[in-house]
Amino acid sequence: MAPIPAISLESLSKSFGSQQVLREITFSVPKGETYCIIGGSGQGKSVLLKHVMRLLLPDSGTVRISGESIETLSGEELNRVRKKMGMVFQESALFDSMTCLENVAFGLMMHRKDLGKREILDVAREKLRLVGLPRTVEEKSPSQISGGMKKRVGIARAIALSPEILLYDEPTTGLDPVLSASIDELIGRMKAELSVTSLVITHDMSSAFRIADRILFLYRGEIRASGTPDEIRESGDPLLQQFIRGETRGPIPVIPDEKE
Ligand SMILES: Nc1ncnc2c1ncn2[C@@H]1O[C@H](COP(=O)(O)OP(=O)(O)OP(=O)(O)O)[C@@H](O)[C@H]1O
Ligand SMILES: [Mg+2]
Repeated sequence: MAPIPAISLESLSKSFGSQQVLREITFSVPKGETYCIIGGSGQGKSVLLKHVMRLLLPDSGTVRISGESIETLSGEELNRVRKKMGMVFQESALFDSMTCLENVAFGLMMHRKDLGKREILDVAREKLRLVGLPRTVEEKSPSQISGGMKKRVGIARAIALSPEILLYDEPTTGLDPVLSASIDELIGRMKAELSVTSLVITHDMSSAFRIADRILFLYRGEIRASGTPDEIRESGDPLLQQFIRGETRGPIPVIPDEKE
């Protein structure tokens, strides 16, 4: 029997009002692999990722985490499954009223009642080290550090509970190429050292080619193409090629010019 995938989406569909955002999305991510979802703005990438965390519920279809459908889980069961997952949000989503260390410790306080405050802070410090942040960051508020550092704090927070699955929504967007490469390296290390399964949303093709075992191209709510980085590079699909070459970020809905 084939091993149970870490994440599996089966015919997942979602509409908001009359707008269908996801159409019959089906794919699985095997344990320990990194899959990237690419696609233009507004194609449904963040909506897809939110279904994996069950921050949104589908109209039809299902998300399975280690084989278990999550739509019907409640309370304790949902908590148990969510603890397996860490999410790095598109906008770091850190609390400015807390220090960086407290941000990383927050989830541990909620979920690791077996640990004392001191132990929790030790774990949080260790996670900040793991993502390559200096000690001086610990007591700063997120508003006092750079965008790249914030992304790292976001990753440290996501890995605080040692999740089996990491979900990243555009972890390198807005970073310079050097910082992007270092975030990519970090994602690679999570895989190599902690054997995590990752689902990464990105606009950044060089990043996708570096980190992905498999790339999925989301277009108008459907998986239009999927393959290894080499297969995607060599694909004959003109829309995909256009996206890869960056000539356009896809059929972005035209935003009317206010001057007219
Ligand atoms: N909660 C919501 N209610 C209504 N519509 C929504 C909601 N969330 C997303 N949408 C719509 O769904 C579509 C897809 O949004 P989504 O955020 O998934 O795009 P995306 O592919 O992540 O884009 P970007 O690359 O710009 O982040 C958009 O048209 C958006 O307006
Ligand atoms: Mg998005």
